[in-house]
Formats: sequence, structure tokens, C-alpha cells
Amino acid sequence: MKPTSLKGRSLLTLADYSKEEIIYLLDLSDELKARKRRGERGGLLAGKNVALIFEKPSTRTRCAFTVACADEGAHPEYLGVNDIQLGHKESVYDTAKVLGRMFDGIEFRGFRQSVVRELAEYSGVPVFNGLTDEDHPTQALADLMTIRERFGTLAVKLAFVGDGRNNVANALMIAASKVGMDCAVVSPRELWPDVERMERCRAFAAESGASLTVTDDPAEGLSGAGAVYTDVWASMGEESKAAERAALLAPYRVDVKMLSLAAPEAILLHCLPAVKGGEVTAAAFALHEEVIFDQAENRMHTIKAVMAAAMSDAL
Ligand code: CP
Ligand code: NVA
Repeated sequence: MKPTSLKGRSLLTLADYSKEEIIYLLDLSDELKARKRRGERGGLLAGKNVALIFEKPSTRTRCAFTVACADEGAHPEYLGVNDIQLGHKESVYDTAKVLGRMFDGIEFRGFRQSVVRELAEYSGVPVFNGLTDEDHPTQALADLMTIRERFGTLAVKLAFVGDGRNNVANALMIAASKVGMDCAVVSPRELWPDVERMERCRAFAAESGASLTVTDDPAEGLSGAGAVYTDVWASMGEESKAAERAALLAPYRVDVKMLSLAAPEAILLHCLPAVKGGEVTAAAFALHEEVIFDQAENRMHTIKAVMAAAMSDAL
């Protein structure tokens, strides 16, 4: 049964969602994936129009929203940086008001979390965060789905290795602590998560019965981990920091030796795009690419579930 709280709901961060709401979205994602495998498409979003705003490039997120819309009978409208004047020649407020008059939902990928919040506040329609500098909630949903698909349970320790302050690390800390997964962030001290965010996640973890560890020691962080996760060292918009990050993070490159610190059955996850030879070696990636590409596919099923839960008249 769909929690009524999801109807019309924006997804700005999973911090706003309860464990039950997250599990419902994962169950729905599994169901939609199975349905697509059977060759069935639905009209869950029939007649809906969805604006896709992208201030940063994207392969997976853009394609996931577009295919999910096409599968379910909605029309996706892509709006790139050169298409609209969001926040430059037109305020976020006015843009939100206008898009809200025409669209049933809005996806936003960009820099500031405040923009996605403002869009949600003023558009009057559900807004989906497709990545900001701070968060990447639809990615974390796909990651949980992939872990549960592989292990049949979410009772798996997750170890994120790399830039502990980036959007993906933050989204994973939130997601894991909400659903009760033990989580370790393994990162040099300079890149440890923001203290306030960490404390907020520790409060979620206390409620769900999970633990959140932050360490600069890979052996400690990866011990007992069933899922090891890494992401680029310099995120979109941080290109000028690439050399500094590479120097700091070289000891945290995920290679086969590093993976041997985790549980014997451990999988490697990566949100992609990956820099092979950067945060992950080509050999480590190749050993785990099947699950990594499952994870990429699962972006589509989870995004479809998020949109259906918020906008479908049929659920
Ligand atoms: N993982 C992810 O968000 O990929 P894109 O940047 O290609 O959308
Ligand atoms: N941290 C990365 C994630 C890409 C999906 C970035 O923001 O570039």
C-alpha cells in the first residue's frame, strides 16, 4: 500500500523521508523492474508532463527520467543551461511559478540545494532532485535497490571510500542511516563529512539501529563491509581541485587489494561516471562491472518509482 504521504511529494533529500517511505519506493522499483522485464509497459504517468532541468551534464539521470517518462506515458521536456535563464535572467521564483503552471513535475540537476528547495516551494508540483552539490537522493535509492537485489536484504554494511564531503557520500550516509544499514565513510581527515550532516545522520542511525563510522583507516572502514562504494575525487564543478584531490586521495584508490579488506562476498558499487586509474583501478572495476551496470540500470526503475508515487493517478 502506498503511504498517502508520497502523493504530490517532492524528493529533495532522503532526510525528509521515513524508513517506511523509502522501503515502499524500493518495493515499487522492484515491481516496476519485473514488469519491464516481462515486456509490459504501463500508463502510470499517462498524460503527465515533466520538466527536466539540467545545469550540469548527465548520462544516467537524464536518460533514466526520459525513459521512465516514455515507458509510462508521460512527456519529458529537457531544459539545458542554454535553454532557460534560471537564476540568471529570470528568478528561480518566477521560473518555478511558470513551470508549475505547465508541468506536473520538475526534475532539477544543478549546483545549489537551495534552488531545488525553492523550485519545490513555489512551483506547486513535485520536484525531484537529480543531483546538487549537496545531495543525490535518486542515486542513493538505486544503490539501496542494488544492494537489496544482490543480498536479498538491507542488513549489509556499506563503506564509502573517497571524498567524504561530496553529494554521493552525503546521500549514502542519509539513506543508510534512515534504513538501518551500518555505514562507514573512509576518507582523509581533510575530506571528512561536515560535522552537522554527520550528527544529523547519527540521529537517524540511532533511530533505525544502525551505526555511522567516519575513519581515515581503510582497514577499519572496510572491515565486514558487504558493499564498497566509490565516486570521482573531483565532482562536477570542482575541476580546479583535481590535482589537490588526487594527492590527498591516492592512498584511497579502490584496487583489488583494498577490496580484500572487505567481507569475502563484497560487491563494489560506483554511481558512475568512473575515472579508471583515478578513484578505482580498471581491474577492480572489471571484476565488479556487472553489479555496477545493474546499479546504473536501477537508476531508471527507482526514478520511475519516485515519479509514479508522487504523480500517478493509478497507484
Ligand atoms: N550517477 C549519475 O548521476 O550519473 P549521471 O551524472 O550520468 O547522471
Ligand atoms: N560526485 C559526482 C557524482 C556524479 C554522479 C559529481 O557530482 O560529479
